[in-house]
Amino acid sequence: MPTYSRITGTGSYLPPRRLSNAELAAELATQGVETSDDWIVERTGIRARHFAAADVTSSDLAVPAAQAAMEAAGVTPEQIDLIIMATSTPDMVFPSSACILQNKLGMAGCAAFDIQAVCSGFVYALTVADAMIKSGAATRALVVGAEVFSRILDFSDRTTCVLFGDGAGAVVLEASGTPGILASDLHADGKHVGILCVPGHVSGGKVLGDPLLKMDGQAVFKLAVGVLEDAARATLEKAGKTHDQIDWLIPHQANIRIMQSTAKRLKLPLDRLLVTVDQHGNTSAASIPLALDSGVRSGKIKKDQLLMLEGVGGGFTWGAVLLNL
Ligand code: UT7
Repeated sequence: MPTYSRITGTGSYLPPRRLSNAELAAELATQGVETSDDWIVERTGIRARHFAAADVTSSDLAVPAAQAAMEAAGVTPEQIDLIIMATSTPDMVFPSSACILQNKLGMAGCAAFDIQAVCSGFVYALTVADAMIKSGAATRALVVGAEVFSRILDFSDRTTCVLFGDGAGAVVLEASGTPGILASDLHADGKHVGILCVPGHVSGGKVLGDPLLKMDGQAVFKLAVGVLEDAARATLEKAGKTHDQIDWLIPHQANIRIMQSTAKRLKLPLDRLLVTVDQHGNTSAASIPLALDSGVRSGKIKKDQLLMLEGVGGGFTWGAVLLNL
């Protein structure tokens, strides 16, 4: 009787429109918004991001990512019995984007729901899928992070609009007799709602409040570096592992300075830090599975290696998942 869950396939997808910092800066300049490649690279490590076309939704981006993950795992859509999609940019108010994705994949019948934990969404979703598999409620889950953050950016606010991008990543998580996911550690502190939020909502057929992203970048930065270290240490302790056993640290890809600081606090050499923020920008719930898939497909990440996945973001939410691939 299997008592563990293990990732058996990864996949990802980026929309084709890629904007370098210089291209984005040139577009923003036409609206009187001043920024530069130098500022963005120095403060964030971001060099480019992808933006989806106006009619492309999160579930559209999730379809090819999910198909690639299923192909890598060698499973057919009929074999999947759970879909969890982490997103803060769902296709509709309801139903869930997971249900929309399920239909687009030609599937029907299995449980499907969204998780809303902003940039921590993927580690939340992976932890819930792991718990459902360990409890026997599911045997083969599709866990997806997909976002179109370009939809909720205020392109007159240079402190936020240069940071985010669109994309999707997915994994197949299956019941296994050998341990894959070793430990998880999830947290939230709702008193920090205001430092990273999209405050608007729909009421009486109108959008009330501001429907665009607001962030106090410095407040997020300060909180992030502390909680990422704590969550990583907690999972290591739960799993009986030590920091030097980690092969790859795969944190939420928001800012290279936060990522490097986390690696240093964990006494990990920077060559064990997986970096895709330079090419993807911050894709919120999609950033970790995008980075994971890029590491697997480039051959950097190898089977049986010990991976530390870490998310942090709006809520305030944070968490980590330690796993053997
Ligand atoms: O996904 C959820 C997690 N989110 C994050 O992890 C984000 C965390 N925060 C950050 O990554 C950083 O705080 C930012 C990248 C958002 C900002 O970096 P910073 O080093 O904290 O810069 P700052 O906000 O202190 O701004 C420094 C200066 C300001 O000018 P003054 O007041 O010193 O004259 C800003 O107005 O940089 C200016 N500035 C810009 N200049 C050119 C802010 N944005 C830009 C810009 N281009 N895009």
